[in-house]
Amino acid sequence: TVQFEMWDSDEPVPRLELLKKVKGCDGILCVLTEKIDAQLLEAAGPNLKVVSTMSVGFDHLSLDELKKRGIRVGYTPDVLTDCVAELTVALLLATSRRLIEATHEAKTGGWGTWRTLWLCGHELANSTVGILGLGRIGVAIAERLKPFKVKKFIYTDVAPRPELANMIEAEYVSFDELAKQSDFLAVCCALTQETHGICNWNLFSKMKKNAIFINTSRGGVVNQEDLYEALSTGLIAGAGLDVTTPEPLPTHHPLFTLKNCVILPHIASASYTTRNAMSALAANNLLAGLRGEPMPKELKL
Ligand code: GLV
Ligand code: GLV
Repeated sequence: TVQFEMWDSDEPVPRLELLKKVKGCDGILCVLTEKIDAQLLEAAGPNLKVVSTMSVGFDHLSLDELKKRGIRVGYTPDVLTDCVAELTVALLLATSRRLIEATHEAKTGGWGTWRTLWLCGHELANSTVGILGLGRIGVAIAERLKPFKVKKFIYTDVAPRPELANMIEAEYVSFDELAKQSDFLAVCCALTQETHGICNWNLFSKMKKNAIFINTSRGGVVNQEDLYEALSTGLIAGAGLDVTTPEPLPTHHPLFTLKNCVILPHIASASYTTRNAMSALAANNLLAGLRGEPMPKELKL
């Protein structure tokens, strides 16, 4: 039998409380609001064998520290791919067709009459869609966008990924070409030291004026000051963000003042089906790790 203690609240467990409670644990099941770093691993002590995160992202885990101590790590890829891709498409369309602005206008008296260029946006038909970081989620997004008559998919990554790219007939291009050619640019990479802040002025300044920037990965890949500048000066047409730095983004943040920026509170995997699948997978990863068995989804350290 496994003895466990659960933090029974939607609010993140206070850090000091967490540091106290992990003492002597064999395993930890966490979500992405918990930093699993050297301090926490020290507080847990030498019994700790496994950390299971209920997320596909793992930037909140200090992988070097975990590896050093021989602690195994479970995460939840695959089960959320469809859900995240679906939300990404919804956010893309909401941004490109200005849906949030439009409903606001409709209910606050801005809807004077039918006007020729009022609330015009940009359409997917005949567009080029760029994917920054092609993995399972990027492929799933492209599969969903294809029926919208996208002309061309392009992607960049540290190296070409032909098996995935072939599934969606995507062409490998340089980072610069991705910036220059994309009408829609979806960020689907993991947040690492290499990707931290890569969506900055260097990227935005090369993008098309009609381009729509979408991020459902991690806020840390974006330089938000540069994005604000790009959006407020019309360098790019719009941005849809499901992730920000920090989270929650303070309500007084300048990005909230922009009509062409749609901000969601990190809900890409938020369907009942997917969150249930993620929690079951996280629990199974934890149990397998505790028993020294192969985990359903283990992160290779
Ligand atoms: C959500 O952002 C996740 O990493 O699962
Ligand atoms: C739009 O409603 C149109 O009739 O073109």
